[in-house]
Amino acid sequence: MAERVTFPEGFVWGSATSSYQIEGAAHEDGRGESIWDRFAKTRSNIRDGSNGDVACDHYHRWRDDIALLAELGHAAYRFSIAWPRVIPTGRGAVNERGLDFYSRLVDGLLERGIAPYATLFHWDLPQALDERGGWPKRDTAEAFVEYADVVTRRLGDRVKRWITHNEPWCSSMLAYERGIHAPGRKDWRAALAASHHILLSHGMAVPVVRRNSAEAEVGITVNLSPCVPASTSPEDHAAARVHDGYMNRWFLDPVFRATYPADMIAEYGARGRLPEDWTSLVRPGDLRQIAAPTDFLGVNYYNRHVARSDAIPEEKNAPRNVFLAPQSEWTDIGWEVYAAGLFEVLMRVHLEYRPDKLYVTENGAAYGDAPDAGKRVADARRVAYLESHLAAAARAIDAGAPLAGYFAWSLMDNFEWDHGYTQRFGLCWVDYETQERIPKDSALWYRNVIRSRGLTR
Ligand code: FCB
Repeated sequence: MAERVTFPEGFVWGSATSSYQIEGAAHEDGRGESIWDRFAKTRSNIRDGSNGDVACDHYHRWRDDIALLAELGHAAYRFSIAWPRVIPTGRGAVNERGLDFYSRLVDGLLERGIAPYATLFHWDLPQALDERGGWPKRDTAEAFVEYADVVTRRLGDRVKRWITHNEPWCSSMLAYERGIHAPGRKDWRAALAASHHILLSHGMAVPVVRRNSAEAEVGITVNLSPCVPASTSPEDHAAARVHDGYMNRWFLDPVFRATYPADMIAEYGARGRLPEDWTSLVRPGDLRQIAAPTDFLGVNYYNRHVARSDAIPEEKNAPRNVFLAPQSEWTDIGWEVYAAGLFEVLMRVHLEYRPDKLYVTENGAAYGDAPDAGKRVADARRVAYLESHLAAAARAIDAGAPLAGYFAWSLMDNFEWDHGYTQRFGLCWVDYETQERIPKDSALWYRNVIRSRGLTR
């Protein structure tokens, strides 16, 4: 029997992108260098040796991209603002041409009736700030607030949905602990200091955004993954709990409870991972500030993590993610398809942290299906992925989660960070030679979902 899945009226439908991943024009109109420009200069940092110099050339093609959003029936579009376009050296002089670009983009969206959802930080930190220590330094949080002020003063009359940060776990841990994202450091203490300053900068920016953007909604986007033990052993259960602390609670607890999880402070302390000056680095009042009331939580969901205690030698003592379940399916990037996880993370934050409102600000899958001779992209696996995840989201709504919208990642194929252009998450195929965008089957399917406010499976 076919099942009809319906979403509430007013549910917000869109897709998401980020500045460094699509804009290109890396050296135009006064844009400063970002840590990703610098990181990608070392070709071995990026799987295909590529970079974001051109990417999807969105900086020049934004009008066509807005037309594409309209054609695909989108009611909303989530994009990010490149800090180095706006304040090229991170602090100080403002580059009006950079702001003008986003101002035109916002006007263009509004003319088409598409609501802009703007992210202030999606990882492209000005290189100049990295040279002064980057996120491990408190100054960077202050610089972020100045930048947020400049942007929201200029766009706050028209943009009414603001996301301070995208995935602080990635911009702290992948960037400073694992070193696979810019700026490529491998230092636990730096990573934990970075996480604090990123969260602090979020909390400090919230009132600034509110002041500059009347009646705006402000929130933060986190990436959440259910963390489950690989076996019934107590050791694997303990590993899953630590992994959940590392991935999820380390970010949710400060934002919603004004505290870091005590078990993780003990864990990091015991392993010598906590900055030596942690107790002075976290100043009195910081946690209160981090827990500034927000209007929504953005959740990015891709997969679950399965933790086991027997770490591989180079990661000694680190819980290791394994994607067990031999019957599982994986996307091209190697992430397990686990739709129930979206229901699980939405219900968990709803029940344990009680945000007023939730948006799925990213969800999607990497599959390489290419255009056929007739330029059709038959990406049936992406349709199946989106369908099962939307059904999971609808179940969470039925169970009481205040989910108000869904953004597919991504509008189009783009520069997938350390994977370069090897992974395609787009609803639209991008031909990187010609910059042609071709809506894949999934984009047309998604348009029908939007039109009919649901799906039949
Ligand atoms: C998320 C990022 C986004 C994209 C997707 C695949 O972690 O926010 O930029 O890379 O993963």
